[in-house]
Amino acid sequence: MPSNTLSVTDDRTGRTYTFPIEDGTVRAADFRRIKEKDDDFGLMLYDPAFMNTASCRSNITFIDGDRGILEYRGYPIEQLAEHCTFLEVAYLVLFGKLPNSKELDNWVFEITHHTMLHESTKTFMEGFRYDAHPMSMLISTVAALASVYPQASHVQDPDNRLLQIKRLIAKMPSIAAMSYRRSLGFPYVYPDNDLSYTENFMNMLWKMVEPKYAANPILARALEVLFILHADHEQNCSTSAMRAVGSALTSPYLCVASAASALSGPLHGGANEEVIRMLDEIPNMAAIPAYIQNVKAGKGRLMGFGHRVYKNYDPRAALIKKIADQVFGVTGPNPKLDIALELERIALQDEYFIARKLYPNVDFYSGLIYQAIGFKPEMFTVLFAIPRTVGWLAQWQEMITDPEQKITRPRQIYTGPRALKRLVPLAERDMEAAKV
Ligand code: ACO
Repeated sequence: MPSNTLSVTDDRTGRTYTFPIEDGTVRAADFRRIKEKDDDFGLMLYDPAFMNTASCRSNITFIDGDRGILEYRGYPIEQLAEHCTFLEVAYLVLFGKLPNSKELDNWVFEITHHTMLHESTKTFMEGFRYDAHPMSMLISTVAALASVYPQASHVQDPDNRLLQIKRLIAKMPSIAAMSYRRSLGFPYVYPDNDLSYTENFMNMLWKMVEPKYAANPILARALEVLFILHADHEQNCSTSAMRAVGSALTSPYLCVASAASALSGPLHGGANEEVIRMLDEIPNMAAIPAYIQNVKAGKGRLMGFGHRVYKNYDPRAALIKKIADQVFGVTGPNPKLDIALELERIALQDEYFIARKLYPNVDFYSGLIYQAIGFKPEMFTVLFAIPRTVGWLAQWQEMITDPEQKITRPRQIYTGPRALKRLVPLAERDMEAAKV
């Protein structure tokens, strides 16, 4: 009978150790038993960038990167995108079950009634330079909310956590819209409780002098589906930041600011903005082969391509391509779409991309849709951060309530000097420098 264990022989000592295999993993801490001498620290596992390390147990999001499968709480993303509203999916991601009508009504009511921002936020916004990046404004403003809600730091209290979760989900669109209007010099628009989550967001972004803002239903639904697709994605860079910062029992407003900071990088959520910049650099179809050649020669990356986990078509990218058709039916086509489609077609036939299993990811087409709806590229990552706040908070809550979790504290392999015998005084160091 094969046993569910791993036996490792240390060739330095000839000793064999046996470790249990559970859920396809072995515990890194078991390796500490492997020592050459009794007073050794024991073996560590070296895994820069966490290429093969599970940092937690989670029952929120499942990804099968080889087959291109994404599920929230067991439900395929395709079904959620087709049948649900964003707040319905947010409830699922946070509480582990789809709500019934009464639960959903209560949930929508609660979120709707937390959308207002403290008036002092306006003064805070005014402090930013006229050309501040909206993502910087979002990150700083959400961090500033920790000062508005100091009681949020009682993270071990479940009721308090839930209140902050509702506030954060409700206020992210309000902050995002405020940063957008600030960058355009437009007056801020207050939330409208009659509207859905995405319609209200569009209202706060684009209402001018009309008494009541009415969003185009196709565009509002497209934004809703984009929000659903971005709600969670298990242990990515920003979620890992959320968990790591949260593990110090930090205020959730500061945790979300940290996670959003990680998201803003061009290799992560900032890629959607970079895709548009890349498409701007390609003047016409004829220029595509040379652009791909440059990428293959190591001069830059094809932004919106490749993924640490997906080694197949990102299922979100496939859904986004479908939404693009509906949006362009209303707005007219984005002129960059043809270049993007051709770029994808050529890349998917190219040995370089095939061998490395590089496919379009969620960011490849989302920017084209956002741009057609009327957003400038600087807003794209903000549009990612709003729905991802749900995932960050669900993962944060799971981490706080997991008895196995402690403060995040990786080990290192120290490569610097040790025990330098004598500190050379500054005057002596200056004399040495003068000699050179
Ligand atoms: N264009 C060209 N080559 C690429 C790309 C790309 N977009 N992505 C990876 N490669 C190549 C690498 O150069 C490397 O080649 P090599 O083996 O010859 O050295 C190989 O593919 C493996 O790449 P890694 O960097 O090791 O892959 P990793 O898993 O660390 O990176 C990442 C994943 C960061 C997403 C990467 O694919 C990338 O930079 N993509 C572009 C940015 C992007 O679209 N990011 C958004 C990701 S989705 C999200 O975060 C929401």
